[in-house]
Amino acid sequence: MQRIIVLNPKGGAGKTTIASNLAACYAVGEQRPALMDLDPQASSMRWLRKRPDDTPAIHGIAGFERSGAVTRSWQLRVPAECGAVIIDTPAAVEAHTLPELTRGADAILVPVMPSEIDIHATAKCIADLLLVAKIRRSENRLGIIANRVRANTLVSQSLMRFLASLDIPLVTTLRDTQNYVRSAELGIGVAEMPRWQVQQDLENWRQIMAWLSTKRRGRAAGLPLRTSPRCRRRSPKRRSASRSARAPSLAVLHVCRTLSAHVW
Ligand SMILES: Nc1ncnc2c1ncn2[C@@H]1O[C@H](COP(=O)(O)OP(=O)(O)OP(=O)(O)O)[C@@H](O)[C@H]1O
Ligand SMILES: [Mg+2]
Repeated sequence: MQRIIVLNPKGGAGKTTIASNLAACYAVGEQRPALMDLDPQASSMRWLRKRPDDTPAIHGIAGFERSGAVTRSWQLRVPAECGAVIIDTPAAVEAHTLPELTRGADAILVPVMPSEIDIHATAKCIADLLLVAKIRRSENRLGIIANRVRANTLVSQSLMRFLASLDIPLVTTLRDTQNYVRSAELGIGVAEMPRWQVQQDLENWRQIMAWLSTKRRGRAAGLPLRTSPRCRRRSPKRRSASRSARAPSLAVLHVCRTLSAHVW
């Protein structure tokens, strides 16, 4: 099983858009993905609930929810036959949570948008991944996705200069298009939209899937991977927002610990 985490502590960078579209790509490719949502805003789980019945199954895991009725590792289990788990993370994850959050991940995707604020925040995120989470460039697990890029704007040029200075692969550059807004509304990925409408965008997802296909597959050495018997469509039940409305950093830290103990 391949484990992919999408993160950038900067809000609105495109984490959910990329995680959900990635899950759709794996689903279309019949690789039975799981989509784990660690964000109490639950945007990925909302997207999954909107998914039409005739689209290929994506197993949803509402990682932000807490239930006294089942153990944490049971709640976060990934079905054995899932070919990939894609993890959507919240904004404002703190640097000290990154080592546990990224441990065992085959790929770490960092979306970044072309704005001075986003570039600055992403520079800090990359520094934390390298220095705090101790991801080595040579591991080749870290990839950047430039998001909402409008060609030939000054700010997109300064984004490209910043990315060139990082010495980290730029996996692809997603354009700013209503196709992603539509895909969020409809619970489908651009890979599932009419081809004539998304022709330009499909090449980006081919590039992302090609980059991911070179990443290590298999579980982290020595750690058990908890699985459930079947990979079935399982939309998470709505639960009261108050249950998950705890301090994000504490909730994320707890999930990180559980991930590294039970899932990775
Ligand atoms: N390439 C794109 N073109 C157009 N709109 C986009 C694109 N990528 C993302 N968006 C839109 O930008 C908004 C923010 O994207 P998204 O929710 O994926 O960001 P996020 O990083 O998950 O945010 P948060 O940190 O709040 O979880 C959404 O409305 C989404 O539809
Ligand atoms: Mg999000």
